[in-house]
Amino acid sequence: MKLLKTKQQLRAWRKEQSGPVGFVPTMGYLHEGHAELLKASVEQNDVTVLSIFVNPTQFGPNEDLDRYPRDFERDQALAESLGVDAIFYPSVEEMYSTTTTLSIQPGAMATKLCGASRPGHFDGVLQIVTKLFHIVQPTNAYFGQKDAQQLALIESLVESYDFPLTVHRIPTVREQDGLAKSSRNVFLNNKERKEAAVLFQALQHGKELVESEARTDDVIRSVKAMIETNTSGRVDYVELLSYPNLEVQENAPLSILATAVFFTKARLIDNILIERV
Ligand code: PAJ
Repeated sequence: MKLLKTKQQLRAWRKEQSGPVGFVPTMGYLHEGHAELLKASVEQNDVTVLSIFVNPTQFGPNEDLDRYPRDFERDQALAESLGVDAIFYPSVEEMYSTTTTLSIQPGAMATKLCGASRPGHFDGVLQIVTKLFHIVQPTNAYFGQKDAQQLALIESLVESYDFPLTVHRIPTVREQDGLAKSSRNVFLNNKERKEAAVLFQALQHGKELVESEARTDDVIRSVKAMIETNTSGRVDYVELLSYPNLEVQENAPLSILATAVFFTKARLIDNILIERV
């Protein structure tokens, strides 16, 4: 497995590849969710590139950039065991050497859900993903449904700007009790960790309500109440929107029921997709 720290090294390595190249962008501190993306890529491509970069431009001023968990040695060992061919592990200076004055405007989709409480977050995500796509030039790129809004925006980026690659959606990987795996789960204390399983239970309950034709307002109220009653967390949002367009639309063929909840040291997100047949 190659460890590449500069764009130049990555580009030189990329030139030597002839078959399909799979790409999994991450911020590291890998868990089984990331592993599923890597497995899919290794299976479907001749070679796989994993990037590990905690991207400062997608963090707000009061967010957890400084304490975002890191463990490069462990990540490297996991990547190697999964058959990753190259890790791109650049420094912040390497990625942001010029003072760029350009930004990608993510548009209306980025004003909903997490975009509403994390202004500028998706501008930063689309900025780094665009740079990484241009550097790595993957044939296939893999993203998790766990970050459903990010995934929808990246699909829209690829379509809007004609990136010559295919985006693959990978289902959310969960702990045994249903909690979505996340690098940020380490910030939960024992009590919060137990409570956090309620997020997925509440979303499943909401899905049942939608399937039994409940009104959107009632679904949202009920899911929110279930989280508030059974956890010490503070609900940031519970929303039911069409997917992937993220519009308020009764009877959309595919909807997303999504939530974000603040615990003492972590803001957790989760979602569930609901198909109308
Ligand atoms: P990160 O949070 O490290 O996630 C990297 C990828 O792993 C994303 O596509 C995310 O959706 C996926 N992922 C995380 N937890 C998952 C789970 N439980 N099940 C399935 N997939 C999961 O998302 C980012 O990094 C960054 O915003 C990035 C795209 C790398 C840009 O900086």
